[in-house]
Amino acid sequence: PKQATLADIHKKYRNHEPITVVTAHDFITGSIADAASQVDMILIGDSLSMTSKGYNSTLEIPFDEFDYACRSVMRGVDTKFVIADMPFGSVESSDSKCIESAVKLMSIGKIGSVKIEGGIEMAGRIRKLCELGIPVTGHVGLQPQKFNSFGGYKVQGKTAEKAVKIYRDALALQEAGCCMIVLECVPHKISKFITEKLEIPTIGIGSGKETSGQVLVFSDLLGMIDSKTGKFVKQYMNFHKEAVEALNSYGIDVKGKSFPEDPKHAFTIADSEYDSFL
Ligand code: KIV
Ligand code: NA
Repeated sequence: PKQATLADIHKKYRNHEPITVVTAHDFITGSIADAASQVDMILIGDSLSMTSKGYNSTLEIPFDEFDYACRSVMRGVDTKFVIADMPFGSVESSDSKCIESAVKLMSIGKIGSVKIEGGIEMAGRIRKLCELGIPVTGHVGLQPQKFNSFGGYKVQGKTAEKAVKIYRDALALQEAGCCMIVLECVPHKISKFITEKLEIPTIGIGSGKETSGQVLVFSDLLGMIDSKTGKFVKQYMNFHKEAVEALNSYGIDVKGKSFPEDPKHAFTIADSEYDSFL
């Protein structure tokens, strides 16, 4: 089956079909997301810094380490449209550094868009990427790469003034040529308003159900990490708990000599061969 394109995603948007997105952080999670027929897109989010690499924030992952993660995800993906985050440090300093970083990620192959956190202040830089033929997904509302200046991971746009700023940022990103915009932790009425005004898909996380699509972090969705998640997360399985239980079952079987079973898990040698071996 051929890989979905931006045109396929925009067609769903025009048909008012909700767009479903999940993150992936390695070959296995990429393969699982690729196999899920109800998932439309995969985001290689820099949240993998925490959820897969164990860093404390998205600020800590080196570009090359993120690049390796993208490469491993892409070895598992054949059919879905993929967006890759631009990690912290790869976009801030100059247009040329931003372009070089985006080119590196897009050269992995089969990635359809890069995602950049920021609003009006990034619009000029984003326009340059778009003009070079690199589709850019915007990201407004809560921007985890800016948690130091945001004062933590908080809902954004709770006052009229701040909500207007998010709306203006989204408009500027659309104007700059963004193909989609992620709205993170924006009050649902504001994300509904923005979604109605824009002519490109909005992908929400913690932003209510009126966005064009939804994204969840893979490890949150499957409960892969034993820690509290955001209020906006729906956990569809408790992978961490089931995995710990499965490992304990394995340990009990080995200690109790009930695994491996003979002949089920064992390889045989013909008796005659064994006799001569002895
Ligand atoms: O890194 C990430 O997972 C993201 C999504 C939460 C939008 O950027
Ligand atoms: Na991200």
